[in-house]
Amino acid sequence: MAVLSVRDLTKRYGARTVVDTLAFDVPEGTVFGLLGPNGAGKTTTIRLALGLVRPAAGTVEILGRRLGSRDYHRSLHQVGSLIEGPALYKALSGKRNLEVHARYLGLDGADRRIAEVLDLVGLTGREREKVKRYSLGMRQRLGLALALLPNPRLLILDEPTNGLDPAGIVEFRELIRRFPETGITVMLSSHLLGEVQQACDHVGIINYGRMVMAGPTAEVVASAAAGAGRSYLVEVDPADLPRALEVLTPLGTPAAAVDFRTVHVATGGLDGRALAWHLSGAGIYPEQIRRHEETLEDVFLRLTATPPPPGPGSIGGA
Ligand SMILES: Nc1ncnc2c1ncn2[C@@H]1O[C@H](COP(=O)(O)OP(=O)(O)O)[C@@H](O)[C@H]1O
Ligand SMILES: [Mg+2]
Repeated sequence: MAVLSVRDLTKRYGARTVVDTLAFDVPEGTVFGLLGPNGAGKTTTIRLALGLVRPAAGTVEILGRRLGSRDYHRSLHQVGSLIEGPALYKALSGKRNLEVHARYLGLDGADRRIAEVLDLVGLTGREREKVKRYSLGMRQRLGLALALLPNPRLLILDEPTNGLDPAGIVEFRELIRRFPETGITVMLSSHLLGEVQQACDHVGIINYGRMVMAGPTAEVVASAAAGAGRSYLVEVDPADLPRALEVLTPLGTPAAAVDFRTVHVATGGLDGRALAWHLSGAGIYPEQIRRHEETLEDVFLRLTATPPPPGPGSIGGA
């Protein structure tokens, strides 16, 4: 069952379409990553899903209820969210922040739940300190505690590790990965591929407001790699790099410089010798041509390097 289901979702700001006929499902019991570069439309999609901004078209369903229906608030009560950094009262303690929010939510048995969520996010023992004394990581964990207060079935986190140090990111990821076992489905957004690859079992890659690929993370990687055919890393003299890009681009996907001397190109069927032949025809003699297995990183960069063609942009279903 899909906990969150989006169909044909569209949002425009002025003449710009920032979310474009978007469709995806977040299956129950998963950690779903909405992956895309900055400006791809992730935050807008999350705002649309929560009913914070109004769509131009399309539907959102959370826990079987449709956005706009009379009982939609019942579903929203089972959603915890953290968007663009938590709104915290910095002069109050962590615990007091939770108490204020619990009252706002009208929670019964708030004291016990507050103790639980403090424990879950690892803030037990620090809850009486003022938030202004908290580190960024602690604030982010408090934000997560606030989102967890209503004991949600769906937790929506917008770029949850922004601003965290590497240790904080690992810790946060470990925490999130355990949520499905406790009955919480997670949807998070990120522009960082490594984060999504490590934290999420399902992924939707969006760009220019469109879904370019979605599904179980392993399947997305596999199908992208299959679709890509052969892929090569071509190492040339740095002076030849611009010219190598020109020569290699017509032979496959747009060639991309990986560093100052290496070009990556995914060719349909051409092999390394064919690449060498084309390059030497242009007076370029590569140091090395290596076969390259695509990682999700490559897929992500390739899929988000150029605007998608017009029309509903869903490759492989949600
Ligand atoms: N309130 C707004 N008014 C006008 N443009 C907006 C507004 N919110 C977002 N946008 C634009 O929509 C696009 C998608 O933004 P956003 O959803 O924040 O992307 P992401 O979260 O993936 O970085 C961006 O180009 C952004 O400038
Ligand atoms: Mg954003």
